[in-house]
Amino acid sequence: MADDVLKFHISFKPKFINLPDIKTGNLNVRYPLISPFAFAHIFIDKETKELLYYVEEPILTDDEKSLLKLLQLGLEEVLNMDFVGDLNKEKIIEYLEENTKSILAELGAKITPETYQKLMYYIYRDSVGFNKVEPLLNDYYIEDIECNGVNSPIYIVHRVYENMRTNIVFESVDELRDFVEKLAQKCGKYISYAQPFLDAALPDGSRVNASYSSDITTKGPTFTIRKFTEKPLTPVNLILNRTLTPRMAAYFWLAIDYKMNIMAIGETASGKTTFLNSILHFVPSEARIASIEDTREINLAHSNWIPAVSRVSLGSKVGDIDLFSLLKETFRQNPDYVVVGEVRGKETFVLFQGMASGHSCYSTFHAGSFSTLIRRLETPPINLPPELVDSLDIITLMIHIKEKDKNIRRVQEVDEILPYSSEEKKNVVFKWDAAKDIFLESKESVILKKIHAKTGKSLEELETELSTREKVLIKLAELNITDYKKFSEIIDLYYHNKKKVLESLKIR
Ligand SMILES: Nc1ncnc2c1ncn2[C@@H]1O[C@H](COP(=O)(O)OP(=O)(O)OP(=O)(O)O)[C@@H](O)[C@H]1O
Ligand SMILES: [Mg+2]
Repeated sequence: MADDVLKFHISFKPKFINLPDIKTGNLNVRYPLISPFAFAHIFIDKETKELLYYVEEPILTDDEKSLLKLLQLGLEEVLNMDFVGDLNKEKIIEYLEENTKSILAELGAKITPETYQKLMYYIYRDSVGFNKVEPLLNDYYIEDIECNGVNSPIYIVHRVYENMRTNIVFESVDELRDFVEKLAQKCGKYISYAQPFLDAALPDGSRVNASYSSDITTKGPTFTIRKFTEKPLTPVNLILNRTLTPRMAAYFWLAIDYKMNIMAIGETASGKTTFLNSILHFVPSEARIASIEDTREINLAHSNWIPAVSRVSLGSKVGDIDLFSLLKETFRQNPDYVVVGEVRGKETFVLFQGMASGHSCYSTFHAGSFSTLIRRLETPPINLPPELVDSLDIITLMIHIKEKDKNIRRVQEVDEILPYSSEEKKNVVFKWDAAKDIFLESKESVILKKIHAKTGKSLEELETELSTREKVLIKLAELNITDYKKFSEIIDLYYHNKKKVLESLKIR
């Protein structure tokens, strides 16, 4: 057989298809993930009526399976994975092909081009790829991948069809453990009995959490992968999916314009970072923004933006110190806006000191309520004196409601912090009514008064500005301006030539 016949063809950029967005009684879609080998097949189980996500991959005959095993054993001996780490996908595939071909020759195995393609697919998938999970990682529509142990199907969260069970199952503890070790290794970290938890990021920015349990009475190791969304959600996205109203978005626009300090709180995965990232699109384009994170999540179109990721560290303790010193250094450089992805430890203290000394600061904090936040701020290890707490101006509480056929995120409450000497600790300026799924607004805003005190602009003038910005956002939502670069351009133009924006959007 001529050598050139054996050329592996694989594409990681399958054709983009638009999915039907209604859950019809006979939904049945199939789209490519890794062409031409792996497909997603989404359909409704006739008996259980459950929506299922099946990965379809080439089927191997018994002979092909044995040959694959031999090849993989052979490759394990000859491949230098450290070397592979520095190559791009094409080069890696070339390297794999060369080695596979020489092992095939050694074995004297004669195979058809079809078999060769299939075997190369699995060789790629299981060596440089993420084994069984690789097709899922190549699905643009998947947000989350969750594995709760051995013999338990992987669940995913899909952008269009939400929660679905897959046909991907790790069938032995060893297989799952090897996989979790591979995940850790690709994040540049270790997971072991001594260090049984992993919280890290893959090179593409996807976040990984994993546990390494060896106890066979439990279901073994677990992992979740939260895929990195390259294009950040803008306030228009959040308006369109009703996370907040145009009025609330306009409120944050004004608050950011006048450099109010804002913190997003909520439970895990409630949407804190997404909310923060979206409202940061309101920062004027010429402002200097410094952002600091443990793992890279914040994404902005600003040219004056200096992102920093604190040094990769092994334990969370070391990580805290890094964030802490990085933040102190950042304040020394005196940026206009300081964004910290998430604060937990003593860096929180530094953040509040920064706010108190007039820097405009934005961050997220894991707390399920206003009172939990305040308690955690004022007790060890943070130990913030109460008089520093009110350097913060606004707290936004995020909520994620995930039920059988509901997967929504809302801004549950927007609180304005009152002076620590006052009896009431907060003014609830917006509140979500869960029963009606509407947002209520209080009559008074402390923030508007603060802006009035700071700038001398009358409250009427500020009210008018707020409602003009609300109209702009309503229009942008109608026009579906979700692209973050386009959105940032319009905000920027508004700051420089408001009249032009209002005219072109036909707002009077
Ligand atoms: N308002 C929203 N609308 C649609 N999707 C959202 C929204 N907020 C968050 N998401 C999606 O939910 C996932 C989790 O969001 P995010 O990372 O913002 O949560 P978080 O509260 O910061 O989580 P963590 O506690 O892990 O820091 C992401 O995949 C994100 O794209
Ligand atoms: Mg977050």
